[in-house]
Amino acid sequence: MLETLTRVPPDPILGVSAAFQADPSPEKVDLGVGVYKDEQGKTPVPRAVRTAEQEVYAAPGATILVSDPTWANHIPLLGTVGLKVDRYPYYDAQNPGVLFERMLAHLDAQPAGTIVVLHACCHNPTGQDLSAAQWAEVAAVVARRGLMPFMDLAYQGLGEDLDRDAASVRLMARAVPEMLVAVSCSKNFGIYRERTGLLIALSGNVERAGITTGHLGRLARTLWSMPPDHGAALVERVLSQPALRQEWMTELSHMASRINSLRGLLAERLGAVSGDDYRWIGAQRGMFSRLPLSATQVAFARDHHHLYMPPDGRINIAGVSPANVDRVAAGLIAAVRS
Ligand SMILES: Cc1ncc(COP(=O)(O)O)c(C=O)c1O
Repeated sequence: MLETLTRVPPDPILGVSAAFQADPSPEKVDLGVGVYKDEQGKTPVPRAVRTAEQEVYAAPGATILVSDPTWANHIPLLGTVGLKVDRYPYYDAQNPGVLFERMLAHLDAQPAGTIVVLHACCHNPTGQDLSAAQWAEVAAVVARRGLMPFMDLAYQGLGEDLDRDAASVRLMARAVPEMLVAVSCSKNFGIYRERTGLLIALSGNVERAGITTGHLGRLARTLWSMPPDHGAALVERVLSQPALRQEWMTELSHMASRINSLRGLLAERLGAVSGDDYRWIGAQRGMFSRLPLSATQVAFARDHHHLYMPPDGRINIAGVSPANVDRVAAGLIAAVRS
């Protein structure tokens, strides 16, 4: 196919440059390309621009804090923006629950402007969410210290319901002047590969909202230029047609209650097999729970019981079913004891 291409004439300006470069004469003079030159023939960068460049590189200096642990992709994703990524204490794997006092004390020691990534609901990978009272305390510290909340809402509707899963976002929005909310439609609309979601920036006043929108537009232009529209068109149609919206909400609610009843079932069977208390699995929310398993125990579960999970012991509750729960519980307890 490529043999059908014919040679295009050289670009008139770049062709002149190439000819100038190739001319060995010491008397050559370039009157071609339209850039400013000084007496030495160099194109200077104004001093003010150099200063501005240094300021741009040095300016933000903010740190982004993520929960320990967090979704495996948060650190590589956030690490690419040139800010320092660090962690705040979140989950106690040995005594499953939030290390709340340590989390709060850590946030309370951060300088203003620190960005704090918070899982709005259905914490990935632990399933351990903050209670409403804990969210209120976190919001108070974030507001008092001038931190910037960045809430990740990737599982709305898969924890309790659409309304309650967004309660943390509303609570935070009432407490702070500025925040970012990343919303994904991948899971709750089942369109993981359509890359559909949105970023909400709460920006304090109308003027800053306009400026922020301009920056986001510029970022979008450099990252993906024009977004694909297919997934967004589907979501828009589901949300705007009352019958489709109702049907979607009913299906989503069924998914959440199925996950939550599987949680209860697995917790009860793990307790029955081991004699230990696994009710915490029933109280967690979303698709994931993180079991207190080492990478070696995870390998044991795979090799001896055909149970597959990542090395950190995160299990997808939706993979459990009434048909396999006895095998799953027996295999997990055998791995815990291996
Ligand atoms: C916490 C969290 N944020 C974001 C995402 C991804 O969202 P998206 O598919 O919209 O990139 C996931 C899931 O994969 C997740 O668990």
